[in-house]
Amino acid sequence: MIGRLNHVAIAVPDLDAACSLYREVLGATLSEPAALPEHGVTTVFVNLPNTKIELLHPLGDDSPIAAFLKRYPEGGMHHICYEVDDIVAARDRLVAAGARILSDGEPRIGAHGKPVLFLHPKDFAGTLIELEQA
Ligand code: CO
Repeated sequence: MIGRLNHVAIAVPDLDAACSLYREVLGATLSEPAALPEHGVTTVFVNLPNTKIELLHPLGDDSPIAAFLKRYPEGGMHHICYEVDDIVAARDRLVAAGARILSDGEPRIGAHGKPVLFLHPKDFAGTLIELEQA
């Protein structure tokens, strides 16, 4: 069911510092920052030849990233994103298998303007998984 790895997301306490780390030290090409108020994050994408890295920084008062950074003040790997062809079919299959979908279970528009869902990390080997309809 899952297809390509779309991105690996890293939560960062200082977005400018993380951008210069990836741009200057690692020599990568970065997107412009994009604010996603519905998800409580600002994102920057690092474009790699075979996938992307999503730098995540808290936006707003009840950002899910703020709680993560409280536990991991230096930042850390937050989620991985797999592509699926049909996100509603994928969701229904996962729910039938007993997996938990985060929030209300309805796809929301993600950082690439495409529908996304998040799966409960306790159901997937301790990893927060994002599914994005490719
Ligand atoms: Co993501």
